[in-house]
Amino acid sequence: MLADLVKRSQPGAADTKLLVLGGGYSGRCLAGLARALGTPVLCTRRSLDSAEADLLFDSNGQDQLDPAALEGVTHLLSTIPPDREGNDPVLLKLLPTLRNLPLRWAGYLSTTGVYGDRQGGWVSEQDDPAPALDRSMRRLNCEQAWLRSGLPIQILRLPGIYGPGRSVLNGLQQGRARLIDKPGQVFCRIHVEDIAGACWHLMHRPRQDAPASPGNGSIVNVVDDLPAPTAELMRHAADLLGWALPPLEPFDQIVDSMTPMAQSFWSENRRVSNHRLCHELGYALLHPNYRVGLQDCLNQDKLNPSDLGSPPQSANG
Ligand SMILES: NC(=O)c1ccc[n+]([C@@H]2O[C@H](COP(=O)([O-])OP(=O)(O)OC[C@H]3O[C@@H](n4cnc5c(N)ncnc54)[C@H](OP(=O)(O)O)[C@@H]3O)[C@@H](O)[C@H]2O)c1
Repeated sequence: MLADLVKRSQPGAADTKLLVLGGGYSGRCLAGLARALGTPVLCTRRSLDSAEADLLFDSNGQDQLDPAALEGVTHLLSTIPPDREGNDPVLLKLLPTLRNLPLRWAGYLSTTGVYGDRQGGWVSEQDDPAPALDRSMRRLNCEQAWLRSGLPIQILRLPGIYGPGRSVLNGLQQGRARLIDKPGQVFCRIHVEDIAGACWHLMHRPRQDAPASPGNGSIVNVVDDLPAPTAELMRHAADLLGWALPPLEPFDQIVDSMTPMAQSFWSENRRVSNHRLCHELGYALLHPNYRVGLQDCLNQDKLNPSDLGSPPQSANG
């Protein structure tokens, strides 16, 4: 849980001020860590009614961020996804403003989807991206724009994000989890607290790698140690909850009935290495695998199996 991350993290320098562009699931987690360590944080959201919305920023809206509100920002994280054309909304709207800040670190949350399909093989930051899906091509375009921005950028490539309120435990609880069997298929994942922990670690680590380029630490995979099939996670989650599993569905028999989005999700198979993050750059994962991470979700979501009663009918088949 976040308290564990706070305990083992060093506070930033006294003048550190963090801007989180997009205080959604991951952005809010980093903001919570920074605040707990005494760093002032400004979080943008698209509505000031949203939780932890310090500033309004909607790239599709009329209101512009007031540069005066960002005075003294030394670190920033952007979690905002590409627009439909594959442009980065932050760079389109804010680059001149960001260039005027005394930035020491800028992080951009990207996806491991830029590696494309590797047929289950390992892939690292040294490998050239090979995106096949439109959304991954848009993402790569944004990565390249950030690398060219002139800002002290580090790109964090993320696999599937999970954490409290957003895990296979919640899927099982809500009866929407499916036990799909596709032999040989694995997925990588990362607990949201390790995104926050990795950002904090990287933003305070001295960089010797200017100018930005993929080969020298400007790109970092933020993934856990254990790529695994989703069915394996489901079995573990069902064990934790003490529930029966949904029926096993062979992938080949259901693929035609899947949504195009689900089909694209299952069309790529890769094992993403975290060697650079964990060995070269020295970050120790708080949740190194789904077993540790799901136990944490169970605790934080207070999904005490004995309180839950019977699973919903659809989860039980
Ligand atoms: N979910 C995954 O498994 C996964 C995997 C790999 C990579 N990623 C990527 O990693 C990043 C962080 O993921 P997440 O799950 O933490 O995302 P999230 O909860 O959806 O947060 C995204 C943030 O971006 C803001 N945003 C979206 N469009 C915007 C726009 N046009 N103008 C201004 N702000 C905008 C949202 O504003 P509001 O707060 O107002 O909604 C939100 O704060 C995202 O770019 C995501 O695509 C996600």
